[in-house]
Amino acid sequence: MFFKHRVLQAEYFDLPDRPVAELAEGYRMLNHMNRLFLLAGPFKRCLPTWFGQERCRSLSILDLGAGDGSLGDDLSVWAARRGWHWQVTNLDLNMQAMRLNPPARFVAGSVLALPFRDNSFDVVIGSQMAHHLMADEEVCQHFKEAWRVTKNVLYMNDLHRNVVLYAVLWMLLCLHRYPDHFRSDGLLSVRRGWRVREWRSLVARAGIPNARVSLYAGARVMLEAHKRS
Ligand SMILES: C[S@@+](CC[C@H](N)C(=O)[O-])C[C@H]1O[C@@H](n2cnc3c(N)ncnc32)[C@H](O)[C@@H]1O
Repeated sequence: MFFKHRVLQAEYFDLPDRPVAELAEGYRMLNHMNRLFLLAGPFKRCLPTWFGQERCRSLSILDLGAGDGSLGDDLSVWAARRGWHWQVTNLDLNMQAMRLNPPARFVAGSVLALPFRDNSFDVVIGSQMAHHLMADEEVCQHFKEAWRVTKNVLYMNDLHRNVVLYAVLWMLLCLHRYPDHFRSDGLLSVRRGWRVREWRSLVARAGIPNARVSLYAGARVMLEAHKRS
């Protein structure tokens, strides 16, 4: 079967000390692809449904592996248009990425050891982050940490490993004439991605109760879990 197993080849994107201009260009291209794939859509649909209008007036959100914080910016601007205050904290390992977006609230750190107390945020999100981790144990630890620091909701996604997504992405990346390293990282990201049953098993190992793992639009694996207070 195609793409039966994850590949663990390193991405160029993860090299330390890349020139800042190249890094900025990389996030600009990533953000463009994210807009094409409507990355923020599920967050904008689900958070108001789960929290209701009243609770949505003020939410604290932690984005894990946030890159340059674009998803958080999009969500907080969208919420502000509705009169809501969504304060997003962006956590990333890459300090350079943080410097690309000075107004955003950033914390440097690893998703494997979050520098926050238990139940610190109303919502913990993560997008296209887990495939950057190599070992299953690391992904389990990432899920455990995310679950520990959320007070209410954990909502994460990553790429689904399948041939159709790979082919669609290949066409889009060729169409936009992106540089070779960005194109090969994009395709590699799909091959480093996940199947639903793999996340289900890792979520169970992480001890997250009543979690729901599902396939979204044939392109993403979604993890949703709610803490009952
Ligand atoms: C593909 S980018 C995704 C950025 C953004 N979340 C999005 O969906 O566009 C993955 C990000 O995860 C960060 N990252 C990788 N390993 C990490 C770790 N162990 N802890 C925190 N961030 C990490 C990288 O620096 C990078 O910014």
